[in-house]
Amino acid sequence: MTDWKELLFEAAERVQRVAKKSSAERERGRVVGIGASGDKTLVVDRDAEKEILESLSGVPRLRVISEEKGDFGGKDSEFTAIIDPIDGSSNFGRAIPFYCVSIGITKGSQLSNAAYAIVRNLVNGDTYYAERGEESSKNGRPIRTSSETDIAESVVGIDLSRAEEGTIIALAPLVSKVKRQVHFGANALELCLMAEGKTDAFVDVRGKMRIVDTAAAYLIGREAGAVFSTSSGSELKPALELEERFGFVASANATIHGKILGLLRQERPSVRRS
Ligand code: IPD
Ligand code: CA
Repeated sequence: MTDWKELLFEAAERVQRVAKKSSAERERGRVVGIGASGDKTLVVDRDAEKEILESLSGVPRLRVISEEKGDFGGKDSEFTAIIDPIDGSSNFGRAIPFYCVSIGITKGSQLSNAAYAIVRNLVNGDTYYAERGEESSKNGRPIRTSSETDIAESVVGIDLSRAEEGTIIALAPLVSKVKRQVHFGANALELCLMAEGKTDAFVDVRGKMRIVDTAAAYLIGREAGAVFSTSSGSELKPALELEERFGFVASANATIHGKILGLLRQERPSVRRS
């Protein structure tokens, strides 16, 4: 039987070594091609993915969905590894210290079948891990989402990068009411900040999220107590395909989740001109 925990920790450790080496190089943001998901591939993306795939190479009949190399191994496999070798590549290239590796394992063809997950902060080594039905942990200690229910006191991650104008306008009621709106540029790691109670929600309704950025942190968040849905409140059910793009709202608890969804449904505010 596969020891997923051991494999995932080994893969994350190997990526950590690659990231350390690459970050010491002068051209840390060097582009070496275009990945299967359509984004530019940096040296570190390519090398990190190679380490992960080598770590998983002994697993029989494994489907892999990975940002750079794409989808292979067969859809009838029992397990699927969903990999973002480096989430926050743009931060990595600019030496902004916020990026991670993200690997989720599903048993079945739905995100809700996520069974094992690891996200490792490659700047400080903090490692988030989850197994379905078990508590999520950070560096071996259990983590829990926050119990904040007051929007006015909340710290909420909101990804507005390349969002369409209409999306930004729809987010205005929420942005104007939270205590702090934050976004650091690596959504998997930002979901882990929510999972450990540092932020109270993470909202990405741009319709640009990919399964590779989401699968691992989804399980880590869910097992730590987070609630996930689409922006209209329905179940989050993205297809496990590299081409899939979607949006979601993830919150620390059901009460604040309901309030956030309510704010997203509010009428467009009129623009005040001075
Ligand atoms: C990106 C980051 C970023 C988000 C982008 C993602 P990448 O992942 O998570 O925060 O705004 O949509 O693509 O490209 O660094 O793996
Ligand atoms: Ca990436």
